[in-house]
Amino acid sequence: MQINENYQKLPGSYLFSEIARRTAAYSAANPDKTLIRLGIGDVTRPLPQAVLEAMHRAVDEMGAAETFRGYGPEQGYDFLRRAIVEQDYLPLGVCLEEDEVFVSDGAKSDCGNIGDLFGPDNVVAVCDPVYPVYVDTNAMAGRAGDYCARSGKWSKLRYMPCTAENGFTPALPEEKVDIIYLCFPNNPTGAVATREQLAAWVKYANEQDALILYDSAYEAFITQPDVPHSIYEIEGAKTCAIEFRSFSKTAGFTGTRCAYTVVPRQLQRGGAGLNGMWNRRQCTKFNGVPYVIQRAAEAVYTPEGRRQIQENISYYQRNAQLIYQGLKGAGLTVSGGINSPYIWCKTPDGLGSWEFFDRLLERANVVTTPGAGFGPSGEGYIRLTAFGEYRATQEAVERVCAVL
Ligand code: MLT
Repeated sequence: MQINENYQKLPGSYLFSEIARRTAAYSAANPDKTLIRLGIGDVTRPLPQAVLEAMHRAVDEMGAAETFRGYGPEQGYDFLRRAIVEQDYLPLGVCLEEDEVFVSDGAKSDCGNIGDLFGPDNVVAVCDPVYPVYVDTNAMAGRAGDYCARSGKWSKLRYMPCTAENGFTPALPEEKVDIIYLCFPNNPTGAVATREQLAAWVKYANEQDALILYDSAYEAFITQPDVPHSIYEIEGAKTCAIEFRSFSKTAGFTGTRCAYTVVPRQLQRGGAGLNGMWNRRQCTKFNGVPYVIQRAAEAVYTPEGRRQIQENISYYQRNAQLIYQGLKGAGLTVSGGINSPYIWCKTPDGLGSWEFFDRLLERANVVTTPGAGFGPSGEGYIRLTAFGEYRATQEAVERVCAVL
């Protein structure tokens, strides 16, 4: 038998697994130290009451013969797809049909699985730094070429540097690319794209017959009024973009698992409708998100649910401000944190990302994410997440400042 040789080309382990490994090794060697984790963007606030109550009701339904449900629709139950269309998109002035929304178990899975729809010879453009899932899943599919450890780049990927000079938003590629991954508010830098910038991408994609994969998993953290929440707020996006969204960070579902992907029916490439292709893919490989979880997600759209998730988001936004102001006050160069739960911080004294990561781990007992793990342009940065507990975040900032 023949294995997928592309897996042999992947460097080391997945970024967050590597951080977990290093952190566990440090903890094992230093059992007396209490670590504060501001590394992986995992939420800490419990599920909102409205979500819990809906979940309990759905569990009871599953225990009674009259209301028990077996396989659900692979695309998601109508009640949730309707709530998404009416409450996430209509207020933005975006009209979608329910069958353009596909409920899933996570934006991470969808961002990876969507690659099933694309041929091996597409030219793929990614931001640099970038959420590693986009890169690794293309590498697994053979679309990334070979990895060069020295440059930290894959030979066939097109990297779009996002640096302090361009405000961490990428310039349009000079050559033709076929698939473009965009994530705003950005993971890891926390930067956002303006309406004009997104309009330029939509124009490019429509003109070049390219496809935008738009990850807006962090849109709930936008605080500034003019920042677009969805690519479909831009005219023409329905003919060139797929959008990924998630309940993970918005409603505390990182462990509960629910997300959705929008594939407009107008979106055609290579003579085929991508909505139909994604539907075919999902029906074949996926049996849907559990009923109980979809009822829990639906509760996010009730008035109480909305209020309760907003309380949690505000809690994390307060953390973001704490980290941002604390590190800035200590003389570090920081960005993000305003429309995002991530703070992007330049390492001091020209330290490498992993060097600063180790220093903070060992001297402050604070876990961060080294920027280099997100791509070559992330070197010289670390990322901190605002998803921790408030007191712990406060202490982490104090510890980091003391080390500095
Ligand atoms: C992150 O820390 O970047 C995210 O938590 C990862 C994810 O959402 O998969």
